[in-house]
Amino acid sequence: MELKRRPRRLRANETIRSMVRENHVRVEDLIYPMFVMPGEKKKVEISSMPGVYDFSLDEFVIELRKVVELGIPSVLLFGIPENKDSVGSGAYHEHGIVQEATRLAKKHFPELYVITDVCLCEYTDHGHCGLIDNGQILNDPTLDLLAQTALSQARAGADMVAPSDMMDGRVGAIREVLDKEGFSHIPIMAYSAKFASGFYGPFREAAGSTPQFGDRRTYQMDPPNGNEAMRETALDVEEGADIIIVKPALSYGDIIYRTKERFGLPVAAYNVSGEYAMVKAAAANGWIDEKRIVTEALVSMKRAGADLLITYHAMDVARWLREGG
Ligand code: PBG
Ligand code: ZN
Repeated sequence: MELKRRPRRLRANETIRSMVRENHVRVEDLIYPMFVMPGEKKKVEISSMPGVYDFSLDEFVIELRKVVELGIPSVLLFGIPENKDSVGSGAYHEHGIVQEATRLAKKHFPELYVITDVCLCEYTDHGHCGLIDNGQILNDPTLDLLAQTALSQARAGADMVAPSDMMDGRVGAIREVLDKEGFSHIPIMAYSAKFASGFYGPFREAAGSTPQFGDRRTYQMDPPNGNEAMRETALDVEEGADIIIVKPALSYGDIIYRTKERFGLPVAAYNVSGEYAMVKAAAANGWIDEKRIVTEALVSMKRAGADLLITYHAMDVARWLREGG
């Protein structure tokens, strides 16, 4: 045979394959989402997310030591408050659970990059991400509370804030308050393209944030819409977003790709709770090879254009990387 081109030449063995490999998952890419709650000596596994826990603050610090030792540079904090109310007071309280967790984390591990989730749904008794009037989710009155949430987190020492609420204008509102109060150096990682997804189910169990009526479709995006994701992102970029999150990740590779191509900003792919749960369930049944599947899924996000990977698999991935892949 007179084949001139034989692509298989560069796949002949692991040495050459690794030499020409285009994308890699690095420990520096990982952001580990964690849940914190009040109390002591509590580490409660989330039933639909084996290996992921709600931590009381003392246990949180113990877990953080492992995170740091594995070389994971950053965590993303979600709070489960003692009490919920209609206006989500726990989200912007000076001594709220995330604010206290942030103070502790920065005290014990100053180098750890602490990112805080900015939203109301974990703190509202109705479970929605904004204020409610007559069954309607109010946009503009919510903005002030989101900005206060971000400010209280910055005051507690957060390195970066990540608004996940999907209200219109929130990035601008948060940027304005942070700048005015002396936090112009704190970046905003915006969930710009956050879809109204069935893949968030296990997270809502963890955070107790399932909406008590209706759903999130009036604020989170309609899954079939790609162009709209670009318009949402353009607004957030205009309003001052520093990093763009695409969420979920696995079914939204096209959005990751387009976001990177179009805006050139750092992009974070959020490998969400339902994506994690599916892998865990199948692996527990022996139906898939967990390490292989997770590694392939994460590198596909990198290939699509993601710079950062927000994933509940972070601890496992860091261990695998340490062991040499
Ligand atoms: C709440 C929020 C959600 C997630 C992150 N922040 C859930 C939702 O919007 O209902 C999902 C994370 C995950 O599923 O892993 N604003
Ligand atoms: Zn929310």
